[in-house]
Amino acid sequence: MQPKYHRVLIKLSGEALAGDEGFGINPTVVKSICKEVKKIWMQGVEIAIVVGGGNFWRGRFAEDMDKSSADYMGMLATVINAMALQDVMERMDMPTRVQSAIDMKTICEPYIKRKAIRHLEKGRVVIFAAGTGNPFFTTDTAAALRAVEIGADIILLAKNVDAVYSDDPLINPQATRYERLTYSEVIEKNLQVMDLTAITLCKENKMPIQVFGLANPENLVHAVDGEKIGTIIQGS
Ligand code: GTP
Repeated sequence: MQPKYHRVLIKLSGEALAGDEGFGINPTVVKSICKEVKKIWMQGVEIAIVVGGGNFWRGRFAEDMDKSSADYMGMLATVINAMALQDVMERMDMPTRVQSAIDMKTICEPYIKRKAIRHLEKGRVVIFAAGTGNPFFTTDTAAALRAVEIGADIILLAKNVDAVYSDDPLINPQATRYERLTYSEVIEKNLQVMDLTAITLCKENKMPIQVFGLANPENLVHAVDGEKIGTIIQGS
């Protein structure tokens, strides 16, 4: 099947790498995600990944801590995840480059937009680590920012729920499931899909977002093939 998109940015939450343990990295889960990434890579799709760090550290749980320090710790957690993804992907013969928003030259490249685009053009999977490099910004905002910067066609937002709902479907079974939403609807309804900074950035730059569950890792392939899974967010 001909992929619908030429260049995608996949946002993986840190928790997605942890599996049922909810903490750390589950090698089996990471392998199954990377296997799906390889399928879309084999279709010739250019792939960038922004990974979160919540499987190691969540800044919001450190209420007594200085917010900047807690956020920087989260950024370091994303670097661990990026390196784990790189390791597994390269063992699957996918060339990858990790670029960090915070300089850590000993372990990975610094983020350079033009170099990232060159890597994508050469068929390398580019994994962006350390969020935006700034505290007070989430990795969702990093995903929106990087997607706009590299000119991605879409953000594929892989979550632990299968779509956007009006309420938490696990708590409220009556919650409405949305197939399509505009950016303004997400903002007005205060839907917890991305934080306000991230969704606003997408809105201002007309960056579409497809939200879907990663419980079925094959959803990644379905999304790239343009199948109507999960929720599509676009249109002002
Ligand atoms: P091309 O120039 O397009 O061929 O890209 P390339 O990434 O293969 O070339 P480069 O010489 O920049 O990188 C070679 C290897 O070194 C790659 O695995 C890069 O990820 C890595 N590398 C490049 N810059 C840095 C850096 O600042 N720090 C670290 N740790 N690795 C780097």
